[in-house]
Amino acid sequence: MSALPDAALAAFFQVDPSILHLVPELLSEVWALGSDPEQIVRQLQPAGLPTGARVLDLGCGKGAVALAVAEAFAATVDGTDAFAPFVDDAVRRAEAVGLSRECCFWCEDLRKTAAAARGYDAVLCVSVGHALGGARDTIAALRRTVRPGGLMVVDDGYLAQGGGGIAFPGYGHLLPRRETVLAMTGLGDQLIDERLIPQADLATQNQVIIEAIDARASSLATRLPQHAGALADYVAKQRAECEVLDNRVQRATWVIQRAS
Ligand SMILES: C[S@@+](CC[C@H](N)C(=O)[O-])C[C@H]1O[C@@H](n2cnc3c(N)ncnc32)[C@H](O)[C@@H]1O
Repeated sequence: MSALPDAALAAFFQVDPSILHLVPELLSEVWALGSDPEQIVRQLQPAGLPTGARVLDLGCGKGAVALAVAEAFAATVDGTDAFAPFVDDAVRRAEAVGLSRECCFWCEDLRKTAAAARGYDAVLCVSVGHALGGARDTIAALRRTVRPGGLMVVDDGYLAQGGGGIAFPGYGHLLPRRETVLAMTGLGDQLIDERLIPQADLATQNQVIIEAIDARASSLATRLPQHAGALADYVAKQRAECEVLDNRVQRATWVIQRAS
């Protein structure tokens, strides 16, 4: 059973609640859900994540980032996500690659996980939008989960052209870069790395994903014609989101070190 009401999960995935159960199939070809696990590993290496580290992955999805970090650093990773089918996928994948002793995944609202977690060497908050609020609230929640000197990885974005906010669902919390960085460091922590994802790379990546989703949606609509309208609506929303991402958002991955 998932850890949030269907309506909340449907809103997060931007689907009509009547097709929430089809989300795993719609996204079956997408393993890392909007993230680049290898890039996160490359950022954590110079940041000094120790071998054998204890890592927390909030909103772990199907476990793509958690497994990459577990493998690269011989780390033990705890990962939580509110959507049960993704957690099941993560558990299966960990077993398949021989990392089920190192990785523990369970279904939970990440806000509950974050409120209880303490003493990790690093916490990952990757592509979960505003689940913990804006940049300031997100860091305030994350820093309590790591030890002094621990690392916080935030993969999100900022307004590409500054100025006014974005009305599209899930993007209303974004600020211009300067405000975002100030908010993330306002409690005295240090920004030690920032990687901006080039817009062209992101656009190409998004195009591949949207075409895969579109193909899945078409075959589902043939099989389940009663859901054809909701499926078409979902694909249209995904395309509209790609427009927003391509033109109005600069995606970024930040590594922040908690003050001692
Ligand atoms: C775009 S996916 C990213 C998943 C993963 N971090 C990755 O990079 O592959 C966002 C995930 O956040 C989860 N999520 C959103 N809000 C949540 C919440 N309040 N508690 C737990 N998980 C949440 C969703 O279920 C989804 O799997």
